[in-house]
Amino acid sequence: MKLSVPHIDKKDIYSINKTLKNQYISTSSKNVKIFENKISNYCNTKFAIALNTGTSALHLALKILGVDKDSEVIVPSLTFVATVNPILYLGANPIIFDVDENHNIKIDDVINFIKSETILKKKKTLNKKTKKILKVIIVAHMWGRACDFSKLKKICKKRNIYILEDAAEALGSFIKLKKYKHCGSIGDIGCLSFNGNKIITTGSGGAIITNNKKFHMRAQYLANQAKDDGYNYIHNDCGYNYKMNGISAALGISQLKKLKKKIEKRKRIYQRYLNNFKKVKNIKLLKFAKDTKINYWMNVISLKKLNFKQTQQLSLYLAKKKIETRRVWRPLNLQNYLKKYQKFKLLDTNKFYLNSICIPSDDNISGYDIDKISNYIKKYYEVVSNN
Ligand SMILES: Cc1ncc(COP(=O)(O)O)c(C=O)c1O
Repeated sequence: MKLSVPHIDKKDIYSINKTLKNQYISTSSKNVKIFENKISNYCNTKFAIALNTGTSALHLALKILGVDKDSEVIVPSLTFVATVNPILYLGANPIIFDVDENHNIKIDDVINFIKSETILKKKKTLNKKTKKILKVIIVAHMWGRACDFSKLKKICKKRNIYILEDAAEALGSFIKLKKYKHCGSIGDIGCLSFNGNKIITTGSGGAIITNNKKFHMRAQYLANQAKDDGYNYIHNDCGYNYKMNGISAALGISQLKKLKKKIEKRKRIYQRYLNNFKKVKNIKLLKFAKDTKINYWMNVISLKKLNFKQTQQLSLYLAKKKIETRRVWRPLNLQNYLKKYQKFKLLDTNKFYLNSICIPSDDNISGYDIDKISNYIKKYYEVVSNN
């Protein structure tokens, strides 16, 4: 019973084989354009740029937003390191913020920080402490749980701060504004991932989505080696080899057709866990914010009163029963290489980290399996908490 694995069916294999046979396999394959159109249609954005990983999408997006060595970028504490590393690639500083009960960045804290810890000078928002320019806020939609950051938009516009949405885990998640909008399409630029463990996969892969034509043009240009004249090899900037290839895109086109069904399956899994843990006082299933529709990508439980070691032992106990689990991300503030960076009011992060684990959420888990997993967890909890 797996957390989340790729599901490749006959149609996916047909789509890949067709591409292999017609040799449209490189980054200039027409599949890539087709996949980009399908992604922008699904997310309702003007543009999508298909890339080789979600990490390159984040790197490129930050680069396009002008992040450099004099910049700072706000990030949530509880996320995969791929959210923060591209900030360091560009020589900028991250500032690490706390997360709420849905494991998403605390938007009120971000607003308070901007109001109390920064000043506007020559149209730039300067961090009073470091004198660096606060250029971007990264909002990550953790575990596919959509983070409604709409109240942040006004102050960011006034202060010339960009909002980048890390929607790597959130393909198929939406936030209700005037109407429902896809995660990644609400800020200035959004990033998706199609890695093997995601709700749909292209093997490895990612995308930038945006409504900004300039960002789109620049992303396409930089992702394709900043090529101005392909025949004469003229490049007027330092580009990257970041585009998706045609085989991955073929898989993506085929996988995207199944997204709706996959979300329905995962919703049923979530609801069954919810029902199973409903009456258990100290085991909490991660929920999601109101006015959001989510993709139910990953289920997370927290076991109140268990300590770090006991939670670890639960994982080992479940592993013996062939049930895969994983701790939630080790928070950025606890990673040694990030210790030197500024943090803001990290009150809850470590608490979530101590006793939360991800539990099997894969498409193929049966109701019977979910009940089995839930019962093992309940039994373990009872024994440990009574000792
Ligand atoms: C929140 C988050 N950001 C970024 C990434 C990076 O995506 P990729 O693995 O496609 O590089 C991932 C996933 O792996 C992720 O979970």
